Amino acid sequence: MNYTQAEELLAAHGQMQLLDYYDELTDEQRACLLSDIAKLDFSVLENLHSDYSKTLGKLSPADALSVDEVERNRAGFEEVGLEALRAGKVAAVLLAGGQGTRLGSSLPKGMFNIGVTRRLTIFEQQMNNIKEVTDRAGCMFHLFVMTSDLNDKATRAYFAENNYFGYDSSKIHFYEQKLAPTCSKEGKIYLDEKYKVSQSPNGNGGWYSSLIEGGYGPLLESEGIEWLNIYAVDNVLQRICDPVFIGATLKSGCACSSKVVSKISPEERVGVLCKEDGKPSIVEYYEMPKELASLRDADGRLTYRYGVILNYLFSVKTLNKIYKDKLPCHLAFKAIPHIEKGVKVIPTEPCGYKFETLAVDIVRLMGSCLAVEVVRENEFAPVKNKTGVDSVESARELLAFNGVKL
Ligand code: UTP
Repeated sequence: MNYTQAEELLAAHGQMQLLDYYDELTDEQRACLLSDIAKLDFSVLENLHSDYSKTLGKLSPADALSVDEVERNRAGFEEVGLEALRAGKVAAVLLAGGQGTRLGSSLPKGMFNIGVTRRLTIFEQQMNNIKEVTDRAGCMFHLFVMTSDLNDKATRAYFAENNYFGYDSSKIHFYEQKLAPTCSKEGKIYLDEKYKVSQSPNGNGGWYSSLIEGGYGPLLESEGIEWLNIYAVDNVLQRICDPVFIGATLKSGCACSSKVVSKISPEERVGVLCKEDGKPSIVEYYEMPKELASLRDADGRLTYRYGVILNYLFSVKTLNKIYKDKLPCHLAFKAIPHIEKGVKVIPTEPCGYKFETLAVDIVRLMGSCLAVEVVRENEFAPVKNKTGVDSVESARELLAFNGVKL
C-alpha cells in the first residue's frame, strides 16, 4: 500500500489522524505504518455504539452435574475419557493470545514466574498438569497453542528453549489469532507510536476460525480428532484433557461442555452459565443484570451460581457447522497507551476501547452444553492481577494447597 492508497482508505473511514506524523517518519517507519493500515480491520468499529447487554435474551438458571454426581460416576466417566484419549480423539487448545495487561508484564502471560524458591512459569506448571494425564493415559495428545502477533515469537522460543517441557514437540502446534485496532471514546483509532497503529488481540472467540485459517483443518481430520479441549493460560490448576470431564461429556451426548465452579459471591468476576431463551449461554460478569446475579434459592445458594473457568470441550463436528457464524463483539473500556498531540501517553484510567469476540459466545451456537462442577480449590487458581483477588499471591496459595512445590 502506498501513501495515496492509505489516504483514500483512511478518509473513507474517517481515520485520517493515523497519518498525522507521516512527514516526520523515516522510510522504514513509513513502511511499517502503511503495512499496519493495509491490514486494519475497520469493521470492528461498527460495534462502537451497540450495547451488547441490551441484546440479552430471557435468562434462566442452568443445571450442572454436581461434584457429588461426578464422584459417584467417576470410574465410568474416566474409563470412557481414557479410551477417547488413547484413540487420539481428543486434543487440547491453549488460549495464549491475550496481552495479560493486568499482570503488567510485557512477556507472554505464560512466562510469568509463579515460583518462590525456584523458577516455575505458568506454561511449565500447565505442562506438568498435562503430564499427569498423559502418564495416566499412556499417550500424548495434540496440543495447539494460540498466540497473537504480539507474543508469538517469544512463546515459540520459550517452548523450544525448554525442550517443550519434555512433551513430544511434533504434537505441539502454534498458530496466531488476529488483532483489532483500539480507539478513543469518539471512535478514532489510536496510534501506539507515530509509526505504529495501536492494536490488541481480537479476543479468544476466534480460536477455532484462526486454527482453521492457520491450516490445521486437515490435521484434525487425518488424526481423527473429534473433540477439542480449550483452556485459558492463566489458571495454574487447570486440568487439561481431564479424562473424567471427557467421559462425562461423551456420555451426555452434548455438543460441548464446560467446567464450572460454584460462585463464592454475586460479585465474583466470572462468566455465568445460564440458559438464554432456553439455550445454554454464558453471560459475562459485567453483562449479567445485578438483580439476577444476587438472586438466591430457598436454600441460600445463588440461583445463577455456576461460574465458568475457561475450560471447555467442543465437538469438532459441530464446530465445523457453526464457526463461520457471526459472534457478538464485546467492547472493553481500558487504559490504552497511545500518541496524543505528538507524545506517548500512558493512561492509568480507561480512555478507549478494545474490541473482542469471546469463546463463551460459541457455547450458545453449539446448541447443547453439559456443565460439570469441579472443586474450585483443586482446579481454579486464576492469575489475573499482581496482588489481591485472582492474583499471583492467591494462585501460589492454591498451588501450595495442592502440594505443588514453589
Ligand atoms: P483474559 O480475558 O483474562 O485477558 O483472557 P488477558 O488478555 O489474558 O488479560 P488482561 O485482561 O489483558 O489482563 C482469558 C484467556 O483468553 C486468552 C488469554 O490468553 C487467557 O488465556 N485470550 C484473551 C486470547 O487467547 N486472546 C485474546 O484476544 C484474549
